[in-house]
Amino acid sequence: MTGSLDTQAIYSLTHRQIANNEAAQEMMAYLWRDWGGYVGQLSWVTAAQLAAMAEAAGLAPGRAALDLCCGTGGITRHLVATTGATMTGLDYSEPAIEIARRDAAAVPAIRFDHGDARELPYGTAEFDAVISVDSLVIVPDRRQVLAECARVLKAGGRLVFSDEVLTGPVPRDPETQRALAVYGRLFPLTAPGYRRLLVHLGFTEIEIHDRTPMFVAINRRWADSYRRFEESGRKVLGDRLFEDGLAFFDTLHAEGAAGRLGQVLVSATWTGHDGAH
Ligand SMILES: C[S@@+](CC[C@H](N)C(=O)[O-])C[C@H]1O[C@@H](n2cnc3c(N)ncnc32)[C@H](O)[C@@H]1O
Repeated sequence: MTGSLDTQAIYSLTHRQIANNEAAQEMMAYLWRDWGGYVGQLSWVTAAQLAAMAEAAGLAPGRAALDLCCGTGGITRHLVATTGATMTGLDYSEPAIEIARRDAAAVPAIRFDHGDARELPYGTAEFDAVISVDSLVIVPDRRQVLAECARVLKAGGRLVFSDEVLTGPVPRDPETQRALAVYGRLFPLTAPGYRRLLVHLGFTEIEIHDRTPMFVAINRRWADSYRRFEESGRKVLGDRLFEDGLAFFDTLHAEGAAGRLGQVLVSATWTGHDGAH
């Protein structure tokens, strides 16, 4: 578990450093300006892609959904505002949850819980939908996480997530491996691997769409934004995390462009606990 504790620590640090930081907000505005603006995403999802995810998940007034690995809760708030659904956000970064709670204090129909995606603090069949954006790749035991999603979904509930997947042999050299692990060691599945796992767990209506071209473009923009805001970025993050972050986005961009790492949008329906394996 040491690896995952390191991941938790680095996310906690990042969340503390960027929260309410003006320079970081300026960089985010630049990063997302061509793609519907910054809605709180620290990932690779545009506002239009989020709208498509919300639709696939059936988010609407009267529906209850979980935003799994919600970070500082910007996406969760955005989904409440744009769909009228009741949202719960969960993340294992304590600073992220503190920030999320503070920023959503005036928002009805939203709550944030601190917890681990592998052991959800919820009862069986509590949610109409589970959404997760670009996070599952860093959770080591994917089977356990998806089984937990199934457990908390109502029969007919929707699971919708974006995630990074293996599309080729990522180089094993230490430099590439180190750069890719800056925000936590990655445990990428392949798209067929995801399909097999979801079938095995009892999900149906599984659809997997490739979003790699946009993922590549967004990684290029992340790296470009780091360079453009280098002076303030070094102040906010410190030299080490700034340089590691830049190497991370440069490497993701290179691996994505070379066809070795990609991004998928996955949606599936949970048919009910009687059918569970
Ligand atoms: C790349 S960020 C994405 C955050 C958010 N979904 C977004 O798109 O902006 C990944 C998030 O996953 C969280 N995370 C990673 N492993 C987790 C786990 N086992 N349980 C709960 N949260 C986890 C991290 O703390 C971090 O906030």
